[in-house]
Amino acid sequence: MTEHIKIEKEGGILTLTMARANKKNALTNMMYGALADALEHAETDPAIRAVLIQSEGDMFTSGNDLGEFAATAAGVQGERHVLRFLQALTRASPPLIAAVQGRAVGVGTTMLLHCDLVFLADDALLSTPFVSLALVPEAGSSLLLPARIGHVRAFEMFALGDAVDASSALAWGLANKVVPLDALHATARRAAERICKQPAGALRTTKRLMRNTGALTTQMDVESTCFFERLKSAEAREAFTAFAERRSPVF
Ligand code: COA
Repeated sequence: MTEHIKIEKEGGILTLTMARANKKNALTNMMYGALADALEHAETDPAIRAVLIQSEGDMFTSGNDLGEFAATAAGVQGERHVLRFLQALTRASPPLIAAVQGRAVGVGTTMLLHCDLVFLADDALLSTPFVSLALVPEAGSSLLLPARIGHVRAFEMFALGDAVDASSALAWGLANKVVPLDALHATARRAAERICKQPAGALRTTKRLMRNTGALTTQMDVESTCFFERLKSAEAREAFTAFAERRSPVF
């Protein structure tokens, strides 16, 4: 368990809040573990009708903790809860609703591709700078992102790592709505409350019909192998060292 993920259950809504604002909600192995546990629990608790994912602070999340990436690259072993988290996201049967303010980097953006309703604050910036870190896309995003926004836009996001602002994200089908920052959490919660009033069985079946989980998990297995290989590359080592030293990497 970690204090960096807050978990609340109320009125059918399971709310998962990333709460490591001083590190821009960078996700650690422990945080992935807590998120995975909560999503796995949601599968077994019929009282949970919707899952709301949000965060504290000025950013949704700066993505995976780069210090932990560097440790994995250096050979530190241990259970990698991220894989369990990504599988739980992919298989989640209750609708997932996300509320995103500020930056959503890496997995911060790719997890949104698994959400069923996505609300953005007007300051939201979505980015997937995997290649800039000498890595490759994960979370099924090599399949989901081009399918959602088209190959050339997805390639640009992956290859150059530029952030997409809220209005473009909306226009490209990455989100349902853009709202002022101070209305973000209330908007997402209202949507979750409406979802809770719909017939849960019909909702879950509709969601299942809309997602090809088999193809997605196959792609995620391939991505995961490539990602792990890339993590151990000299290029990735340079990227993580550069971040720690607050300089630009030289590839
Ligand atoms: N992993 C670990 N620590 C992180 C982090 C991450 N992904 N993102 C931010 N932090 C830490 C910083 O090291 C800093 O820690 P410190 O106060 O102890 O020095 C703190 O969070 C604040 O970050 P800072 O960079 O000062 O904030 P910023 O507003 O200037 O920039 C970002 C925010 C997100 C643009 C920048 O932190 C960044 O690029 N982070 C890395 C994002 C990334 O590449 N993620 C992996 C994607 S696969």
